[in-house]
Amino acid sequence: MSALPARPIVILISGSGSNMTALVEASRQRRWAQRFGAGVVAVISNRPDAVGLGWAREQGIATAVIDHKQHADRETFDAALMQAIDAHRPALVLLAGFMRILTPGFVRHYEGRLINIHPSLLPAFAGLKTHQRAIEAGCRFAGATVHRVTSELDHGEYLEQAVVPVLPGDTAEALAARVLSQEHMIYPLAVERLLAAG
Ligand code: GRF
Repeated sequence: MSALPARPIVILISGSGSNMTALVEASRQRRWAQRFGAGVVAVISNRPDAVGLGWAREQGIATAVIDHKQHADRETFDAALMQAIDAHRPALVLLAGFMRILTPGFVRHYEGRLINIHPSLLPAFAGLKTHQRAIEAGCRFAGATVHRVTSELDHGEYLEQAVVPVLPGDTAEALAARVLSQEHMIYPLAVERLLAAG
């Protein structure tokens, strides 16, 4: 068994977890353990069927499910989630396609160590259906933003952004795929920069 990293990273997912995969692979390829004492120690999902959980398990990473449907309200869900996260004493908590709005208490608890990736060029298109909205607005460019999480949805300091063109005839799916390939680059980059900054 490998030693626990001094700076544990916990990743929260809800779905396919491709950003989570990109982060785990970057952590290994770019030797975050040796360079920064950091490593991904756990992947936690609010959905039992999140595809990414299987991949994380195969990698020997601890996984947990805190099912929001088993909790009466946001407060009790967030309390259970915090308990699962805090068991790992994380230096960073990374939201990677985690599709739940978090309570202000949760956000305050992880202030300074809670990061998200959002599939738009913030401050444009906070919220859902970002790609469809960018196409409908006639945007020529779209993109993604890695940002610190504050209690205001999709706000907080921007750590990294990537831009892609919106091409003639683009569907939301085609644009989403183009943006996602950039997400896989900028999320690890932003996290590595934070780790390097100490
Ligand atoms: C990404 O586009 C992310 O920005 C958004 O949801 C998608 C999740 O993709 N919040 P994945 O689960 O990382 O594959």
